[in-house]
Amino acid sequence: MIPDRIVLVGFMASGKSSVGRLLAVRLGVSFVDIDSEVEELAGCGVSQLFRDHGEVAFREFERQATVRAAETIPAVIATGGGWMSRPELRSLWPDSVYVWLAARPETVLRRLGGDYDLRPMLDPEAPGRSIRDLLAARESDYARAGLVVHTDELSIAAVAERIADMVREENSVEIGRELSE
Ligand code: S3P
Repeated sequence: MIPDRIVLVGFMASGKSSVGRLLAVRLGVSFVDIDSEVEELAGCGVSQLFRDHGEVAFREFERQATVRAAETIPAVIATGGGWMSRPELRSLWPDSVYVWLAARPETVLRRLGGDYDLRPMLDPEAPGRSIRDLLAARESDYARAGLVVHTDELSIAAVAERIADMVREENSVEIGRELSE
């Protein structure tokens, strides 16, 4: 049985969007990318939104995008890196399977490959330190997810495959539904 909503959470560059797109195709359900929804609502890219209006404006669009996404089921949903640290958003989708795509700070740094233009939450002057600090601050929120996949050594396809296997097993789905508060 496939759950109504599989929510992918985790830090920047953990693969949420790429894995989510693939997983949705594999499971034959809709795919929603919250950052893309934000861009549609705001009429501009996330970086420009941060630049012109700041993080507060971004977070408000992120909330609206989350409310809107609630209408789409069954779906795989890719969230932004800060989404899981917002209890008011988590509470909108209680009956869902949450999967944390975990990645070590050095993996995040490697995957970003020096391109910080699309990651306004990071300090381009000190990317390693800002990744470590932000990840440390958020890790306990990501860990609320009932399921975790350590992505450091895995391809996008392998991560999607692993999640598909987990959600097909009814026991794992029950575990995944337990979003700890
Ligand atoms: C953010 C991560 C970004 C995007 C925005 C804020 C964050 O998404 O939502 O820049 O607070 O970590 P990705 O995790 O897809 O990079």
